[in-house]
Amino acid sequence: MEPKPITSLPPDRRDFITKAAAIAIGGAIAVVPPLAGLAVFVDPLRRKSEAGSAVLVATLGAIPENGEPRKFPVLATKVDAWNRTPHVPVGAVYLQRLKDNHIRAFNVVCPHAGCFVDFRPTKGHYHCPCHDSSFSLDGQILDPKSPSPRGLDDLPVEIRQGSEVWVTFQNFRAGVHEKIPV
Ligand code: FES
Repeated sequence: MEPKPITSLPPDRRDFITKAAAIAIGGAIAVVPPLAGLAVFVDPLRRKSEAGSAVLVATLGAIPENGEPRKFPVLATKVDAWNRTPHVPVGAVYLQRLKDNHIRAFNVVCPHAGCFVDFRPTKGHYHCPCHDSSFSLDGQILDPKSPSPRGLDDLPVEIRQGSEVWVTFQNFRAGVHEKIPV
């Protein structure tokens, strides 16, 4: 059966259909802009979830085989509000080769107040030049009088394709005992 043209309907039915259509169109016009605005607002928050994901930092061959830690910069995609910039230095890590090519990673930032720690090859330990905290090769506090409230912050490491060293880079709150991501 052919649908009746709207003009052939009785006036009260025609009024009802016209009002219903107006309400539907008005509702759509009212709802779409806020939803679009919400999407724009939420987008950077969604993209920030990329922080804390694994980053390719080095190859196995670049890490000394004698177990001495080596410092590497961490380049990642930085997301600031609505900008997304790839290959930006976001920090640095010490990588140390352990038995069976396991790799240990520490954030270079001192947990006391945020200075960068050095590795002292002659002493075989990490040292923070700012307030003299020292840390063993496994990141533990060496001197009980150390002002650092915790040991170095270790980071998860994954070997991909047999030789790529990927680190899940993260910074942590300084000056507290707990390892709290920031
Ligand atoms: S910042 Fe490292 S000991 Fe104070």
